[in-house]
Amino acid sequence: MLRDPNIHHMCTIEKIIDETPTVRTLIFSDEILSNVLPGQFAMVWIPGVNEIPMSVMVTQEKGKAAFTVRKRGESSTAMYNLKVGDYIGIRGPYGNHFDIKDGKLLLVGGGTGLVPLLRLITFCKPFHNVTLLIGSQTKEEVFFEDLANKLLEKNEHRVIPVTEDGTYGKKGFVTDVVEELLDESSFDAIYTCGPEIMMYKTVNLAVSNQITVQASVERMMKCGVGICGSCCINEDLACRDGTIFEGNHLIQSDEFGQFHRTKSGKLEKI
Ligand SMILES: Cc1cc2nc3c(=O)[nH]c(=O)nc-3n(C[C@H](O)[C@H](O)[C@H](O)COP(=O)(O)OP(=O)(O)OC[C@H]3O[C@@H](n4cnc5c(N)ncnc54)[C@H](O)[C@@H]3O)c2cc1C
Ligand code: FES
Repeated sequence: MLRDPNIHHMCTIEKIIDETPTVRTLIFSDEILSNVLPGQFAMVWIPGVNEIPMSVMVTQEKGKAAFTVRKRGESSTAMYNLKVGDYIGIRGPYGNHFDIKDGKLLLVGGGTGLVPLLRLITFCKPFHNVTLLIGSQTKEEVFFEDLANKLLEKNEHRVIPVTEDGTYGKKGFVTDVVEELLDESSFDAIYTCGPEIMMYKTVNLAVSNQITVQASVERMMKCGVGICGSCCINEDLACRDGTIFEGNHLIQSDEFGQFHRTKSGKLEKI
């Protein structure tokens, strides 16, 4: 099916899954979005509110796609509050994708940063050995653990929840566990998406251990197509040149993990 990615395609919400008290997955029919590559995103128009970038979530049903949204500010809360039968407008898919290496993979996710990593899992072959870290502040905000185990049932794998308050899984920051794992074994590649400070530490640990690493950099986005400049990170535009960047490239940036831009474009310390 041919479709102009820059024209809104209207979809009806068909099903809603409550993942945690603040996170919901909205499912709709969309053949094109159901087949996007791991790491690609869409711009989602919530009628009457705003348009925001969202990673495309996997579903278990053919021809269906989904977004997993955490309620934060005005727009994401309006999206979170949508009901079955409501419409959203979708542009995209946009962005590049994770390049999946052979061998032993470490996936490091925090919050809704798990969304592109779950899609990455669906592209793994049975010979991949996969370790997925699920970072969260507390037990009730851990999600996708059962789904990840199910998607990885044909692989040698580990799914390890990590909570900051220690109420579930390992206690601490997800990057503490990355450090432990790199001390005890080696990996062929690391993939990460989540809070930028978590990705910054993960990228630095990977690079210092000479492991290939890719991070999905989620910056403030308005146009999603390289026009407005709101998503810039040094010379790069996250929407046009990413969102996936190689760790060796990111460690040369004096903005990655240090500064982000506000809605007005002002550089602010993270
Ligand atoms: C490529 C990409 C994929 C994303 N995927 C998901 C996803 O799967 N699920 C999910 O819940 N969220 C995702 N986000 C983040 C989501 O777009 C923002 O949380 C949302 O735009 C916040 O809008 P708001 O009005 O609710 O919050 P605001 O009150 O505007 O801001 C809340 C926080 O979100 C950040 N933010 C605000 N607007 C944007 C924006 N346009 N882009 C990036 N960060 C922003 C702000 O810096 C602030 O920290 C993604 C962002 C990007 C760039
Ligand atoms: S969001 Fe406009 S240039 Fe990237």
